[in-house]
Amino acid sequence: MEQQIKTIEQEVNTFSILSKDDLENFRLKFISKKGIIPSLFEDLKKASSDEKKKIGKWLNELKQLAEGKFKSAQEALENSMDESTDAIDLSLPVVPNKLGNQHPLSLTRYRIIEIFERLGFNLADGPEIEDDWHNFTALNFPPNHPAREMQDTFFIEKNPDVLLRTHTSNVQIRLMKKQKPPIRSIMPGRVYRNEAISARAHCFFHQVEGLYVDKNVGFADLKQTLYSFAQQMYGKDIKIRYRPSFFPFTEPSAEIDISCLICKGKGCNICKHSGWVEIAGSGMVHPNVLRNCNIDPEEYTGFAFGMGIERVTQLLFQVNDLRLYSENDIRFLRQFKPVM
Ligand code: DAH
Repeated sequence: MEQQIKTIEQEVNTFSILSKDDLENFRLKFISKKGIIPSLFEDLKKASSDEKKKIGKWLNELKQLAEGKFKSAQEALENSMDESTDAIDLSLPVVPNKLGNQHPLSLTRYRIIEIFERLGFNLADGPEIEDDWHNFTALNFPPNHPAREMQDTFFIEKNPDVLLRTHTSNVQIRLMKKQKPPIRSIMPGRVYRNEAISARAHCFFHQVEGLYVDKNVGFADLKQTLYSFAQQMYGKDIKIRYRPSFFPFTEPSAEIDISCLICKGKGCNICKHSGWVEIAGSGMVHPNVLRNCNIDPEEYTGFAFGMGIERVTQLLFQVNDLRLYSENDIRFLRQFKPVM
């Protein structure tokens, strides 16, 4: 009997239970009333009392082994059944993965950067919380000169002067103070002005400053650089014009207009019926500004410009209300795709 028990023990161990049917077959074969193990217990009755003790122990162990295996296989099958009922239903349609998209102002900023990088400009950055010297004085704004009032400033503290920069021109100064020419950089960023919020004005907006300082940089370089930019941004047919203007930090200064893309120059609300839209201020860097940064204006000259990112975006996407850019309305933001 000993050999018989060993063989059955091996059979129990190697019986593979992968389904409910296997489980039932296992039960019928080994454990059920007509199964092998109960029949062995029957046979045991015939054995001598000495043998009963010894073989009875083995049989009990075999019974525990078979019942244990049955129980754990039963539990494992039930668990996997549970899982499969609430597991992934492969026949369901895929839940669309909602991808965000870039803010229209970011799209424009990346595009502007890309174009100027191709023209040989690198990227620079400066602080939004600035002091009077970098934002005004070094840029040749005389104290108490009305030019300072062109830009209503948010002061954090009047004395010492801590303010929110009113333009990205502060980065020109920071760059020229730490780097000697040649300098050819663009500097995008957020700027702040104390203005009542309306469709046409906001207390913050975005600019891209440009600066090119080297030997023999002239007004023709400024004109060609910005013309090339406008063509790459808006297409070959774009027209550009330079209107004489005034900025304390440039001499001569010019406002840069491009032909209105919305009405194709015929006149509309966006271009105030002139056919032209202003996109940037520009000019030749004033010698005083170079001097303030310890650059010799006899040796070096340069041009600079400051472009409004909202304005450039408005012409690309024909958005008329500036407030939309900062309201975070998903219905508005969702509509923009990269411009190529
Ligand atoms: N900083 C000027 C503004 O915010 C724009 C500007 C004009 C920047 C002329 C320049 C420039 O670099 O040369 O109105």
